[in-house]
Amino acid sequence: MTLRKILLHPDPRLKKVVPSVENISDDLRALADDMLETMYDAPGIGLAGPQIGVMHRVVAMDCVKDENETPRPLFMINPEIIASSDETNVYNEGCLSLPEHFADVERPAEVDVRWTDVDGKEHTEHFDGLWATCVQHEIDHLDGKLFIDYLKPLKRQMITRKMQKLKREQARV
Ligand code: NI
Repeated sequence: MTLRKILLHPDPRLKKVVPSVENISDDLRALADDMLETMYDAPGIGLAGPQIGVMHRVVAMDCVKDENETPRPLFMINPEIIASSDETNVYNEGCLSLPEHFADVERPAEVDVRWTDVDGKEHTEHFDGLWATCVQHEIDHLDGKLFIDYLKPLKRQMITRKMQKLKREQARV
């Protein structure tokens, strides 16, 4: 198990539409462990492949925040939203690729998602609440989209400039 380095915005890899996973291998199962551990370590509730430079449609997720609740690690291969509610929900979103930046984003409140697990089994599940927000945010990553892309250009540019500055400072250390 290896903790992977999380890429920070702006990075061209975070802007790419990435292809589906074609076959499930031991390497992919090892990647699933790495991504879940990297996500828990951050700490975060979701991590998509491109965020660690893995340019395929894979997502790690666990939106159980309460320490007294049983964790629910999910690793989704080729996740797809197959239905969305008309009803929307606004959530103050963050992202491991944009540390310390948060903004309200409106998305469908409930979604049905289909994905394949590391054993090759297909799942379909209905998500609501934070899970629904998170799974949509993560699938957006697979299409080169960040939560700041939902904001007004001025706000997005402001965050991007702050992130560029942060990255310059980190590069100097
Ligand atoms: Ni994110």
